[in-house]
Amino acid sequence: MTIRIRLAEACDIPMLGELIEASVRGLQAGDYSAAQLESALRTVYGVDTQLIADGTYFAAEETEVAGAKSSGGALLVGCGGWSKRKTLFGGDQFAGREDSLLDPARDAAKIRAFFVHPAWARRGIGGMILEACEAAAGAAGFRRLEMGATLTGVPFYRAKGYAELEAAEVPLGDGLTLPIVVMGKSSSG
Ligand SMILES: CC(C)(COP(=O)(O)OP(=O)(O)OC[C@H]1O[C@@H](n2cnc3c(N)ncnc32)[C@H](O)[C@@H]1OP(=O)(O)O)[C@@H](O)C(=O)NCCC(=O)NCCS
Repeated sequence: MTIRIRLAEACDIPMLGELIEASVRGLQAGDYSAAQLESALRTVYGVDTQLIADGTYFAAEETEVAGAKSSGGALLVGCGGWSKRKTLFGGDQFAGREDSLLDPARDAAKIRAFFVHPAWARRGIGGMILEACEAAAGAAGFRRLEMGATLTGVPFYRAKGYAELEAAEVPLGDGLTLPIVVMGKSSSG
């Protein structure tokens, strides 16, 4: 396995969309019902092109997969980013967006939209993307990070030193909600 973490680009968007669907259906099925997942894929989960435009969204690619569906010869196996904007979660289609800028001196940067392909889970790829995000947010002056974690993401972020702050529910329509957990971590430096 040779994983390269690089910034995501606009040309990755179609493959990122496929990756997000595969990740949600393959890895979240133990935490949410099929109805919740399909509804969340329509209304919440998706590519946030603002993060790509900001240069704060990363793609993890496996560079040694022969014959794989490719972006320049490599397979996209994970993605995730951070944000200097107020929106806590959600792709372009999510209604609850707030794109105004955060103040690094006062506010927590947001960890956003982490998705690893099920066939590549538990190999440290999420952790590699998170490290890239933490380093970049720190370099931009942020001393604290927060996210709205899916129930699937909670053990991952807990393992990375994030504390659970509060439970929340994202309305999905049709009477369904998506339980999430707001988590956060302050940098030690
Ligand atoms: C959350 C997610 C991104 C983690 O990606 P990953 O590449 O599998 O994570 P890593 O391999 O870097 O895991 C690092 C550590 O986190 C913890 N962890 C990760 N997934 C876990 C799980 N399902 N159960 C328990 N602990 C887990 C473990 O301590 C793991 O270390 P280990 O494998 O040596 O035990 C991935 O599960 C995913 O894409 N889930 C579906 C989409 C989603 O819900 N994303 C979160 C959005 S907030």
